[in-house]
Amino acid sequence: MRTPLMAGNWKMFKTPAETTAFFEKFLPLVAQSTHADVAICPPFVNIAAAVEATKGSRVGVGGQNCYWQNKEGAFTGEVTPAMLKAAGCQYVIIGHSERRQYFGETDATVLARTKAALEAGLTPMVCVGELLADRESGKTNDVLTTQFTGGIAGLTPEEFAKIVIAYEPVWAIGTGKVATPEIAQDTHKAIRDLVEAKFGKDAAAAVRILYGGSVKPDNVTGLMAKPDIDGALVGGAALKAEDFAGVVNF
Ligand code: PGA
Repeated sequence: MRTPLMAGNWKMFKTPAETTAFFEKFLPLVAQSTHADVAICPPFVNIAAAVEATKGSRVGVGGQNCYWQNKEGAFTGEVTPAMLKAAGCQYVIIGHSERRQYFGETDATVLARTKAALEAGLTPMVCVGELLADRESGKTNDVLTTQFTGGIAGLTPEEFAKIVIAYEPVWAIGTGKVATPEIAQDTHKAIRDLVEAKFGKDAAAAVRILYGGSVKPDNVTGLMAKPDIDGALVGGAALKAEDFAGVVNF
């Protein structure tokens, strides 16, 4: 069976001191939660504080992006996956829609970053998701197929076995408009079918597919009840210890 993964994406929020304060509140609230893997992906500058605060706990730490090679070099503003690993990260988010929308991320760079992250021993959470216009014009599956084909299907079966997929409909991110459990389930199933066609039945049965987009303590239970939803990637509700604990303890 697939162990749920509940991951927080802090985006561009919090200082190191606020990071430490978050974990002081959060860790006791999830100390008994062994039903799921839990992770927080803070801004780079807070990774040291998060790793220090979560030492000895079951909560993992991740980056929100990484460079597409592990070799150091003159690439101002970038961080290698190996650096994240050395700093104590286990995870990294790759291809978030905000990276695609504002920072020129493409399916090809998603693939390259994912391979580099795997090479460094990180677990990539690779994001896919359609825009509102795509969904309204009936193009959701086409868009997901393109993102899957260009960004994930280029992995080897061995590489694919180590990734997590995050389905995040862009119209649901930060809008309070969560996808209904039925819409999310249908789309997760469609993604799992793409996986099966490319990597086979066993890979499709094993891969964790997270839902992201306005997940909150009061809507997480309905989503997690669906057979193809294996966890959540949580933005806004991951910033407050009580809220994220409510999501983790769905
Ligand atoms: P949200 O963000 O939970 O604030 O909608 C989710 C995400 O972008 O990962």
